[in-house]
Amino acid sequence: MRNFLETAPPDSMTQRVFVTRPIADAPLRRLAEAARVELWDDDLPPPHDELIAQTANVDAVISMVSDRFDAETIAQLARLRIISNFAVGLDNIDLDAATRAGIAVGHTPGVLAETTADLAFALIMATARRIAESDRFVRAGRWRTWTPRLMLGRDIFGATLGIVGWGEIGQAVARRAAGFGMRILYATYQSSRKRTFAAPEPPSEQVELGELLAASDFISINVPLTEKTRHMIGPHEFALMKRDAILVNTARGPIIDQEALIIALKLERIAGAGLDVTEVEPIGADHELLQFPNVIVTPHVGSASHATRIKMAALAVDNVLDVLAGRLPRRCANPTVVMRG
Ligand code: DGY
Repeated sequence: MRNFLETAPPDSMTQRVFVTRPIADAPLRRLAEAARVELWDDDLPPPHDELIAQTANVDAVISMVSDRFDAETIAQLARLRIISNFAVGLDNIDLDAATRAGIAVGHTPGVLAETTADLAFALIMATARRIAESDRFVRAGRWRTWTPRLMLGRDIFGATLGIVGWGEIGQAVARRAAGFGMRILYATYQSSRKRTFAAPEPPSEQVELGELLAASDFISINVPLTEKTRHMIGPHEFALMKRDAILVNTARGPIIDQEALIIALKLERIAGAGLDVTEVEPIGADHELLQFPNVIVTPHVGSASHATRIKMAALAVDNVLDVLAGRLPRRCANPTVVMRG
């Protein structure tokens, strides 16, 4: 289903933008004042053929993490000047192919880290204190009395949190953990690239990944998905973890080898997992992972607060408007690109 917002006159000079999912209204209207906007007005993504057909004829696209722009797709988009991803992660886009084609790639860092860190912390708390399991227990009418042995969980206060990835989101998770009196360890996946952000860095110790995995009660995955980080948590890494460790992932599913995770859960090599992302999304309701009571899965909603989704939409639109005005997008993932005219 498509819906056209046409405030700009549809002549051949008009710049055209395809938006692959409904986003916040106000930024969309701002975009429609500057260009002819074609909106895919459905929460389900356009089929890949439709994505190509719609994008082949526009100057800009606002895309989602589930819209794939691989090299083969990019080669078919002769008019496109910007892929403005409504996300900070870029694993759905072949950045090199876009750069070679003269297409700028925009994304949304700086506006979603705190919201995503909230969810990471919510998963830490929910898995530690068995919140989802307790809720299912009450709804099933199994709550019969108060008893000292009911739903025992783990303390967060005083526990060690290992953060894999020390970017904006990892550091935001750490600030929350500091408030809970946790010891914070972190490991970077690109040791040469230590970035600093506006918010102060919380007290923490940098360690090697192996040391982090062996020492942590909770492990939070906060690295982007790249060829280097794909399956970076596999059988070897699970073997290093404490038996009572809880693994939380709000980054990308394929960073964890999901088969190895299932084996680790079966063998009680770890105590549980809180996953906002899975190797294949959406995960099937009958998936084996969902049989474990000590696993919580949420549907990739790390940045899903009302306020943050408005900020993401505003930034995705600004990135497009920059390019339509002949500039690089303000949040550009490939700043060396020579944009096509
Ligand atoms: C991101 O920003 O990369 C999220 O996964 C989508 O909000």
